[in-house]
Parts: sequence; structure tokens; C-alpha cells
Amino acid sequence: MAAFTLAHLSDPHLPPLPVPRLHELLGKRVFGYLNWTRNRHKYQRREVLDALLSDLHAERPDHIAVTGDFVNLALNAEFEPARAWLDSVGPPDRVSIVPGNHDAYVRATQHRIAQCWGSYFTGDDTPDARFPFLRRRGPLAMIGVSSAVPTLPLMATGWLGRPQLDALEKLLDLTATEPLFRVLLIHHPLRSDRPAKRLTDSEDLLALLKRRGGVDLVLHGHDHVHSTIWIDGPERSIPVVGVPSASALAHGHYPAAAYNLFSIARDGNAWRCEQTVRGLNDRSRIVELRKLKLI
Ligand SMILES: [Fe+2]
Ligand SMILES: [Fe+2]
Repeated sequence: MAAFTLAHLSDPHLPPLPVPRLHELLGKRVFGYLNWTRNRHKYQRREVLDALLSDLHAERPDHIAVTGDFVNLALNAEFEPARAWLDSVGPPDRVSIVPGNHDAYVRATQHRIAQCWGSYFTGDDTPDARFPFLRRRGPLAMIGVSSAVPTLPLMATGWLGRPQLDALEKLLDLTATEPLFRVLLIHHPLRSDRPAKRLTDSEDLLALLKRRGGVDLVLHGHDHVHSTIWIDGPERSIPVVGVPSASALAHGHYPAAAYNLFSIARDGNAWRCEQTVRGLNDRSRIVELRKLKLI
């Protein structure tokens, strides 16, 4: 069987930021707006994102996963341009997404996530867009959960909640007997040493995956860095892989934009998964940064 290629990118933080209306800046958004106008606009660059996406398309992946932070302040005027960008990534059946904390920055526009982007996370067996979702694509089961919740100012935490964790367990039960490579998409990393940025119920998710298993690979964004950790499953460890922001210039300890390609193939009773990292080098070109055997 030919290998199936899954591309993963995250945190496009789509530039440019529309000019907010005055009333939209009341409350939490004022902090994010100052951060954008002072700092973030310098290193979240549309030309970087465009170059990364054009390189990704040239690799012709079978499916593309994007793990959130499409927008910046969740202004009403950010959602439609983000939908247009998603359409440029690929059609909804070829692209699966989960939202990030910046997409749910404030409660007032939270409904716009499903309204504008819902077709990118509609499950195979559910007519409406909600989390968790299950989408079967080739030998893959793409399972997405939403950790995106509005938070207090200066907080970027995530939360899944018991109903979503229980529903996730049911989906894992559903796919347990099928010969599928199961990929879990989530915006937040499963472990973090930064209290203001962590997934607050990560212990519950880690306990579920350790007890239940049923996941072969976890993909996330949020931290804007290359990251691979291994967490406990019932029988073997599970890789958890994060990527930098897809629009970033290198700044501070944050690397430049990159994305991952996972080449997945059945090998007897097991799976093989090779990871290729492609990203922006210091000559402003997208190149292969490394290739490794993940599983
Ligand atoms: Fe982000
Ligand atoms: Fe985030």
C-alpha cells in the first residue's frame, strides 16, 4: 500500500489585522491589540505564510491538518478572510481543522468559528460541526477536539471539559477495531510549564490516552516551536508533535515558520510514520530542515 501523506501546519495568525472598531477594543482585546501593533505585526508575515503554503502544495499531501489560531483578536471582520484563506489551503474534505485560543478570544464572536469554518470540522457521521469530530481519510482517522475557550486578559489557557472528553472516549471506542492510524488534533500542547498558556485539564486527557489508548499520533500548535514529546499509552508511547507558527519570522527563541509532512504506511500489523520538517531558512527560502523516522 502506498504511503498516505498528512501535512500539518498551525498558528497562521492571519495578517493583516483589520482595524478594530472602538467598541471592539473594550475589555480583553485592547491587550491583544497593543501586542499586535507593538510587536506581533513585525513577525507574523503574510508573505511567509504564502511561501509556506505554496511549498506545501508542491508536496501534494493527501490531507492537511491546521491546529488553530487562524486569527488574532477574533474580530468579526477576521472570520471571513480566514475562511477565504482556508479555501486557498484546500477544500473542506481535504483539510481538517481545530480552533485555537485566539479564534475564541472573546465570547461575543465564538459562534463565528462554526458559522464560517464549520465545513472544515464537520464529522463524517454528524451533520453539524462540533467537537470532537471523526473523519476517515484513506488509512487515517482524523479526530479533532477543541481546547479553544475565552479566557481572562493575558491568559491563553485551554480547556476540553468532561463532556468532550467523554465523547472523545466514545470515538476512540468506535475506531478501536478498525485498521486505522488515528491522529488526534488539538490546539494546546499536552504538557506545558507555563501556567498561563497550558491546557488546564491536560491531566484528564493524558489519563484517558494512557488508559484507553486508541491514538497513534497527536498534533498541536500554540507554543510556536518545534516540539516532540512522548506520552504513555496502554501498550506503547504515543508521539505528540507541535510546529512553529506558519507565518512567523524567527524572533527571540521562536523559530521561523515550518510545517511537517507525515508519511504513514501499514507495515504488517504495525504502522510506519516518517516525519519531514520543511521550513523557512535564513535565506528566506522554504527547504527541508530534517527527516526522521517517528514510528
Ligand atoms: Fe498561536
Ligand atoms: Fe494559541
